[in-house]
Amino acid sequence: MTKPFGRSLRALWGFADGAILLNQGSFGACPLEVMKEQDRLRREMESQPDVFFRTRILPREGQTELRAVAGAIAAFVGAQADNIALIENATAGIQAVLRSMPLARSDVILITEHTYNAVRLAVAATCAETGAVPLIVPMPLPITADALVAGIQQVITPAVKLAVLDHITSPTALLVPLERIIPLLRANGTRVLVDGAHTIGQIPLDLGALQPDWYVSNAHKWLFAPKGCAFLYAAPDVASITKPNVVSHYIGLGFPQSFDYTGTRDNSGWLAIPAALKFFQSLGPEAAWAYQHRLIDVCTGLLSPLGIQPVSPRDMCAGMRSFILPQTRAAEAADGAAVLHSLWKDASIQINANVTGGKLLLRVSAQVYAGDEDMQSLSQALKRIGWPGR
Ligand SMILES: Cc1ncc(COP(=O)(O)O)c(C=O)c1O
Repeated sequence: MTKPFGRSLRALWGFADGAILLNQGSFGACPLEVMKEQDRLRREMESQPDVFFRTRILPREGQTELRAVAGAIAAFVGAQADNIALIENATAGIQAVLRSMPLARSDVILITEHTYNAVRLAVAATCAETGAVPLIVPMPLPITADALVAGIQQVITPAVKLAVLDHITSPTALLVPLERIIPLLRANGTRVLVDGAHTIGQIPLDLGALQPDWYVSNAHKWLFAPKGCAFLYAAPDVASITKPNVVSHYIGLGFPQSFDYTGTRDNSGWLAIPAALKFFQSLGPEAAWAYQHRLIDVCTGLLSPLGIQPVSPRDMCAGMRSFILPQTRAAEAADGAAVLHSLWKDASIQINANVTGGKLLLRVSAQVYAGDEDMQSLSQALKRIGWPGR
């Protein structure tokens, strides 16, 4: 694609006029071209439902169109199609792994202070059911890669049977150095489930090199797929124990076919993944990532005069960065929502804000359709509107 990145690219999405979009990270944003492909697939499905499901969806000899989509994802993330299941979202994939992992009373499940809330709750529910115990590693802000690795290293014991680790954390947008952490856990015999909800499309992925036991990622965030599109990777030695959340006709086929059909549902999102991959490739991934990094630097420079500093050094973020909004009082739980809503209401800015580790944070996503002007609008709005406890 020769089109320049920045606001002129907004024409490829169906964004509302005037909306300033700095939050690809929460819900993604699907381009018109990909939505068109999903519409086409839905029309085909409803034009002759029997033929559509029987010839394209139901796992017969294991070679459905969904398997072909899994193959396309596998090629993109350094894995094999047989190790990739298509799932609705990261939440569902993590749930499936937690239910599949054999856990006994007093086994420890390691998570961190920055683990996504829904994942923390899923781990808590698993612990309540199995008698396992959650271990939440503190990650005080600001943080460096060395401090993060050391924090995890010092709590690893033989009792830690499963670690659920983010590849890019949600509230803090930290790029976690998993290539340093996974070997430590593997050496301890700990199984590793990586929550890569934000990664596919935001950073290059090579699961063959990373060697997690399981890895989930959302194609509907940074890969531009329709909503409800994610994948679950299971390494060869855990694939046979990895079960879907829903038992249906094909449960006997095992991973990954048992995930392909869990009752009648709309498969058009997954079938549109090749269109999302094509769109993403057409941007030129290297150029897109370089643009996003530059835009993050522009944003950092504009927020700095307001006393707003990043949560970590530059090497720990990719296309998203979180910043600490300084306060003269302790952060309150409601402060995040207050920032988010005031920026939205008073400046038409869609962004993520949250309170983590006692700090009020603003998380900025620098997607290719955003421009320097958007970052200027953000810094001006923050200067004008302020934030709780400023
Ligand atoms: C780190 C992390 N894990 C899991 C999720 C859940 O993703 P989904 O809502 O698509 O299941 C999110 C969503 O933002 C996330 O940031």
